[in-house]
Amino acid sequence: MRFLKLMVILGVSVGLMYACERGGKANPSEPVAKVSVKTDAQSIAKGKELFESKCAFCHDADSTHTTVGPGLKGILKRKKLPTSKRPATPENVMRQLVEPYKDMPSFSYLSKEEREAIIAYLNTL
Ligand code: HEC
Repeated sequence: MRFLKLMVILGVSVGLMYACERGGKANPSEPVAKVSVKTDAQSIAKGKELFESKCAFCHDADSTHTTVGPGLKGILKRKKLPTSKRPATPENVMRQLVEPYKDMPSFSYLSKEEREAIIAYLNTL
């Protein structure tokens, strides 16, 4: 029994380590579904509303100053994302929302459309 428990614990830790390794590595060659950034006023307004209710208490939209998470001013105009150092592409922001790099909660419960609206808004910062 003890051995079995040990094996289970070992298996889980190796699995976790593997997951962390994969999540933490910037791998630009990894296939990510292409995200086309919406620029219509309606999407941007919807994204702003979502940002204010779901992101603003951890992220400042008007600076690069870190509160709980990094400030997101000009996030999609930068070369790299602030924490993961992945290229600052809409695909990598989408990825952050679905499978966050580190301590951020996941927003995979939002619809794809809602996540795209948030990205449309981030694109205006
Ligand atoms: C509870 C606090 C919290 C909330 C809410 C939150 N974030 Fe974050 N965010 C973080 C932290 C902490 C990081 C640093 C990286 C990490 O932990 O994944 C981060 C990192 C990021 C990054 C940079 C990721 C990178 O690769 O460097 C982006 C972009 C981002 N958040 C966008 C958002 C958006 C958009 C929302 C709202 C839908 C949001 N965050 C909600 C805490 C939060």
